[in-house]
Amino acid sequence: MTKRYTLFLALLAVASCTTAVRHDGPVYLDPARSVEERVADVLPRLTIEEKVALTHAQSKFSSRGVPRLGIPEVWCTDGPHGIRPEVLWDEWDQAGWTNDSCTAFPALSCLAATWDKDMSLLFGRSIGAEARYRKKDILLGPGVNICRTPLNGRNFEYMGEDPFLAGKMVVPYVQGVQENGVAACVKHYAVNNQETKRTATSSNLDDRTLYEIYLPAFETAVREGGAWAIMGSYNLYNGQFNCHNKRLLLDILKGEWGFDGVVVSDWGGCRDDDEAIFNGLDMEFGTWTNGLTGAASDSYRNYHLADPYLQRIADGRAGTKELDDKASRILRTIFRTSMSPEKHFGSFNSPEHYDAARKIAAAGTVLLQNNGALPLNIPDGGKLVIIGENAVKKMVVGGGSSSLKTNYEITPLEGLQEAFPNAEIIWERGYVGDTSTSYNKVDTGQDLSESRSPSQLLADALSAAEGADAVIFIGGLNKSKGQDNEGTDRADIVLPYGQDAVIEALSAAIPSLIVVNISGSPVAMPWADKVAAIVQGWYGGSESGRALADVLTGAVNPSGRLPFTLPKALSDGPLKTARQYPGIQEEGSKWWQEYYDEGVFVGYRWYDKENIPVQFPFGHGLSYTSFSYDNARLSRKALACAGSFPVDGGNEEVLKVSVSISNTGGLDGAEVVQLYVAPPAGDVERPVKELRGFEKISLKSGESGMVTIPLTRRAFSRFDPDAHCWVVDPGEWTIHLGSSSADLRTCATVSIK
Ligand code: GLC
Repeated sequence: MTKRYTLFLALLAVASCTTAVRHDGPVYLDPARSVEERVADVLPRLTIEEKVALTHAQSKFSSRGVPRLGIPEVWCTDGPHGIRPEVLWDEWDQAGWTNDSCTAFPALSCLAATWDKDMSLLFGRSIGAEARYRKKDILLGPGVNICRTPLNGRNFEYMGEDPFLAGKMVVPYVQGVQENGVAACVKHYAVNNQETKRTATSSNLDDRTLYEIYLPAFETAVREGGAWAIMGSYNLYNGQFNCHNKRLLLDILKGEWGFDGVVVSDWGGCRDDDEAIFNGLDMEFGTWTNGLTGAASDSYRNYHLADPYLQRIADGRAGTKELDDKASRILRTIFRTSMSPEKHFGSFNSPEHYDAARKIAAAGTVLLQNNGALPLNIPDGGKLVIIGENAVKKMVVGGGSSSLKTNYEITPLEGLQEAFPNAEIIWERGYVGDTSTSYNKVDTGQDLSESRSPSQLLADALSAAEGADAVIFIGGLNKSKGQDNEGTDRADIVLPYGQDAVIEALSAAIPSLIVVNISGSPVAMPWADKVAAIVQGWYGGSESGRALADVLTGAVNPSGRLPFTLPKALSDGPLKTARQYPGIQEEGSKWWQEYYDEGVFVGYRWYDKENIPVQFPFGHGLSYTSFSYDNARLSRKALACAGSFPVDGGNEEVLKVSVSISNTGGLDGAEVVQLYVAPPAGDVERPVKELRGFEKISLKSGESGMVTIPLTRRAFSRFDPDAHCWVVDPGEWTIHLGSSSADLRTCATVSIK
C-alpha cells in the first residue's frame, strides 16, 4: 500500500472519529461517559452568547440551558423545609397551580435538635425526592449560618450555635438530596447572621473567628458532604459583597476547599459587573435588573452577568477564561442533575414522606423540664385543657422564602384530639398573637380573629382549666414580622403578646401546668421554676401536631437536645454594643459596619467563659427514662500530634473515645452522647470546651451499649491567623463525655506532645 494512501486512510480515520464526537445535535445521555468527559465535550461547542446565557436567570427561578444542543434549563426551588409552590414567570406570588402542594418537613432548627445523622439522611432523601419529582435541579437549602444572636429572624432555618453540630448534621442532608440527582445549595455563604440590613451590612471579623466558627459548617458540607452548590449571601464580608467576594469564593471555597460546583447568588445579591465576572460567581439570580432596583422590560438582559458581560468581552475588558470556568461548573451541575445518566424521578406527598416528617419532628422535640407531669395520662372521659394560640395556628405558611403550600398541617390541638379521642378536650385562646393567615397568596384558610380582651381571655382560660386532668399552655413565636421571619430580627427574646403574664397567672392557679414553647429560636422563660414541665417544640411541618402529641403522650420518648443555648436574658449574651450588633454607620462608609468583637465566644463558648448561668444549656434535653455513663476510655493515653498543619489538613483520625451507656430507667429511649474537648491552659484564650463529637444511641430499658467517637487532629486545633494554618497545642487535654454541655458525666485526659 503506498505511503500516500496509508496517510489518507489515517486522516480519514481521525476525521471520522472527531466527526463522530462533534455532532452538533442534542447531547446524548451517554452513560459510558463521565461527567467531566461530557463537560469537556460540550464546552467547546458553545458560542459565547450561549455560555453567558447559562450564567444568569431567565425567570424568577430558572436559567437558560442550551436549546440548540438539547441541554435543559436549570430550575431552582426553595427551600430547606419543602418544595415551594410554583410562582409566575417573574413574580414572587404563587402561580395557582393545583399539583404543587408538598410535604412540609420540619424546619432545620428541629432537624439540628435531633442530633441524629440518620434523621438528617432521611430528611435529605425525602425532600430531594420531592424536588426531583417537581423537576427541580437545585434545592435552595440547607442553611447553616451560626446562631450568633438569638434575635436573627432566620435562626429557625439554620442549625444552631455550634459549627461542629451544624456541619456534621448537614452532611447527610446534602448527600440525601443529591442521591436524587438534585443539587443541594448550602446557604448563605457566609457570616450572614442577622436579617437587619442584610443587604447593606459588612460583617467584619478576624480570621481565627472566621475559620473556627463561621466557615466550618460550610467547609464540612463541601468537603465531607460533597455539596454541588453554594449560595452567596446578601451581606458583605470585610467590605466586599458575598455573592462575589474574592476571598470567600476564590481563595477559600474554590481554592482551599477545592469546590467544583456552582456558586449561586442570593436573589438580587449580585451588585457589581466586574466583581461578578472575576470573583467566582457562577450564576446570577434575582428579580430585577441589577439585583436591587426596579424591573425594566426584559430585565434579565440587564443582569451583571448578561449584556454587561457580553459587552466587556466584546470590548476586551474581560476574556473568556472566567466564562469557561462558569460554564463548565454549570454544565457539570446539569450533568449531575437533570442530565444525570442514572435518571431519577423522585416521589411526592408519599406516606413515607409524611411519616419521615413526623419522625423527625418528634425526634427534634426537646423535653426541657419535667417534674412528672409528662407523659400525659388522660383517662377515657377525662378532661384535657389546652391554652394558647400556637395550639391552633398553622405555621407552614409564612416566614419568608421557606414558606410552603402543603396538603395539610396537623396543629397541636388536632394532634392531641387524635391522641385522646375519648377525653373532653377544651381549647382556650389565652392570648392573641398574629391573626394573619397568608403569604405570597398562599392562605391557611383559618380565621384567627378574636374580639375578647386579654383579661377576658385569661379569665376564660382559668375557668376552663377547673377540674382538668391536665392543662397545657402552647405558645411561643410564629412566622410573622419581628418573630421567626426572613427579613426582620426580633427586638428581644422575651415572649411576645403578653404570654409571660398569662403563663404566670395560669401557673399560680395550676401548679401542674405544662408549657410547650413552639419557636425556631431561643426565648426567655422567667416562669420556668413555676411550671411543672416545659417542652421546646419547633416548626414541625405537616405532621407537627401529631409529632408533639407523640412526645407528650410518651408514644415517642423525647430525645431532642437544644442546638442553641436558652439564655435567661438577651443582655447575658456576648453582643454588648451596636458595633457588634446590629452594626453602625461609619464616616465615609457607604455600608453599615458590624464587628464580631466577641470573636469565637458565641453561644455556650461565651456563657462558659463568663460563667453566666443560663436557663437551659446547649445540648440539654431530658428523657422519660434515665441513662448512666461508664468511664470514658481512650484508645491512647498520649498523642504525638502537636504542631501546625495546613488549612485543609488535619482530617486523619488520631484517637478513639469510647463509653458504655446504660438505660437505667423503665422505658426504651435514646441518649445523645456528647463529646467536648477542653484544651490545656495556654497563652491564646480559648473556649473552656468545644463540641467535637456526638452519637445518638437507642437503648431498651435495662440495656447497655458502647458508643465510640473518633477524633481527628482538627478536633484539638485552633486557627493561627498569622501563620494561616491550624495549630495543636501540646499539654494535658481533657475529653468530656456527657448528656449536655452542662451535664458532663465522665472524662479522661490525653497528653499531646
Ligand atoms: C431569598 C433568600 C434565599 C432564597 C432566595 C430565593 O431572599 O435569602 O434564602 O433561597 O431569596 O427565594
